[in-house]
Amino acid sequence: MSTLLSNEIRAASKSHWEEIPCGINLPLGEVGTREFFENLRRFKYEVDYPEIIQFVRFPEGAGKRVLEVGCGLGSDSQTWCEAGAKLTAIDFAEHAVNMTKYRLEQCGLPADVRQASALNLPFEDNSFDVYYSWGVLMHTGGTQKALDEAFRVLVPGGEAIVMLYHKNSLQYRFYVQILGRKFDDGAPIASFIRGLKWISSAGCSSLPNGRLTIFFGRMYPAWERSCRRNSRSY
Ligand SMILES: C[S@@+](CC[C@H](N)C(=O)[O-])C[C@H]1O[C@@H](n2cnc3c(N)ncnc32)[C@H](O)[C@@H]1O
Repeated sequence: MSTLLSNEIRAASKSHWEEIPCGINLPLGEVGTREFFENLRRFKYEVDYPEIIQFVRFPEGAGKRVLEVGCGLGSDSQTWCEAGAKLTAIDFAEHAVNMTKYRLEQCGLPADVRQASALNLPFEDNSFDVYYSWGVLMHTGGTQKALDEAFRVLVPGGEAIVMLYHKNSLQYRFYVQILGRKFDDGAPIASFIRGLKWISSAGCSSLPNGRLTIFFGRMYPAWERSCRRNSRSY
């Protein structure tokens, strides 16, 4: 992928997520209230991704240094904190960072939440036991670079738990193959979609000094019921 295209994807993705943090448009109550945040989390775990609890195994984060990359509105950040993880969460969208900070403060959950990029993590090598990112890395315009960063900041033998969209997914077929063409006019959405196209066709390669577990999301609903079929450990 050309640097030009990667930069274009990064810029388009940033402005997209600054404008519309993930889930903010769902009719789940007044944005920013505890009720809204709780409904958002329930929607994610009960409707959108019922497999997530089984796949991610949040309770195993207790006492561990967990880095969440692309925290969005902080549903999983809250779950990691409640499980007893020592959480650091980043997102490159300021809006998302502020909302996640506010959400965790409301719940009295301590965490380090900062604005930063998945492609240039502001942490020393070997700083975390777990790297976690759900539905983020294909939006970065540099998925392999993001994974390289993940294994730089992980301790040797640490685990990266990542959800990426799969090529054989409704998401891909609908947004990329149908809407992608329709919107392919240089508008931000088109560039953002090219990010999905890239990861879907290129897949991931990485030589991690640890474990990389990928959940391929947004597949056809029946397939998503089976974590085993969708996840790969490297
Ligand atoms: C689909 S949302 C997922 C949010 C959250 N993980 C969830 O599951 O609700 C993608 C998130 O990734 C963030 N993001 C995208 N590219 C990023 C990057 N290069 N560095 C950090 N965050 C990024 C966006 O700002 C957005 O909050």
